[in-house]
Formats: sequence, structure tokens, C-alpha cells
Amino acid sequence: MPDITDIVLDEHETFRRRFAELDDKRAAGAGRAVLEGLWRPLANLLERHAAAEEELFYPRLLQKGANAEEETEDAISDHNDIRAAIARAADEVAGGEKWWRAVLDARNANSDHMAEEEREAFPDFREHVDMKTRAELGEAWLRYAEEHAGARGLELEQEDPEEYIEEHS
Ligand SMILES: [Fe+2]
Ligand SMILES: [Fe+2]
Repeated sequence: MPDITDIVLDEHETFRRRFAELDDKRAAGAGRAVLEGLWRPLANLLERHAAAEEELFYPRLLQKGANAEEETEDAISDHNDIRAAIARAADEVAGGEKWWRAVLDARNANSDHMAEEEREAFPDFREHVDMKTRAELGEAWLRYAEEHAGARGLELEQEDPEEYIEEHS
């Protein structure tokens, strides 16, 4: 049975690798279509990842974690920063200066966020959520990922951290 924390860590690693591929494409002087072809699936994966965490991971952390409210508030506002940068990139031509700035903003926000998630939210979750639940959430994550592949059917909107916490506490 897949453990949700393993799946999330794997996806974090995928983000690091895809951004590294973008670096290679940039260094090779890749054109608009190549950059767009790499960025669009990555942006969709970032959106789907954040949505899946908000659907499956953070609600359980809020129920069980020791410092969950603070961790969740940080995470939702980081997810909002990532979503905002992705939305900015979508308004620009791939490869242009403003597009790169938006893509790098998404990357920076995501890097800082993954580090914080791995350093704070995950240890709290591992300590307080049992293995059976982790496996059930892992199954649910895989179903969610299939259902929303390519960010299909997701509301790509900003989420108010306080409202979210109230709703899931
Ligand atoms: Fe996250
Ligand atoms: Fe994450």
C-alpha cells in the first residue's frame, strides 16, 4: 500500500528534476514550444500536488498534528504564492523575460515551501498519523491524481488560509 508521505516526497523530487530540465533547456537556448511543452505539465503537476495536499494531507494534519494550524497556514499561503506565479506565467509568452521571472518565482516559492513542508509538517504528520491511515491516504492520493491529471477539474484559485483551517479543524 502506498504511503502518502512517500508519494508526496516523490512528487517533490519530480519538481526538482523538472525545474533542472528547464535550466538545461534555457542553457541550450530552447524555443517557445519546447519551453511551453516542459512548463505546462510541470505547472499542472504543481497545481494538482497542492490541491491534493489541501484535499488529503492538511485536513488530517489539522486533526492530529501538534503544531498543525501554523504549519497549515504557512502551507496554504505558500500554495497561493505558487498558484499566483503559475497564473502570471500563463499570461506571458514562454521564453520571454516576464515568463522566466514568473517561472522562477514559482520555483523559488515551491523550493522554500517544499523544504518547510519536509522540515515541519511532515515530521508532525509522521509522529501523529498511524501507518494504516497513511496508506489509506496514499490510495486516495493516487485516485485523486488520476482523476485530476493535467490539473483537470481543479479550481485554481487562491485559498484563504484562515477559512481553510476553520473549515477543516
Ligand atoms: Fe505543499
Ligand atoms: Fe508538497
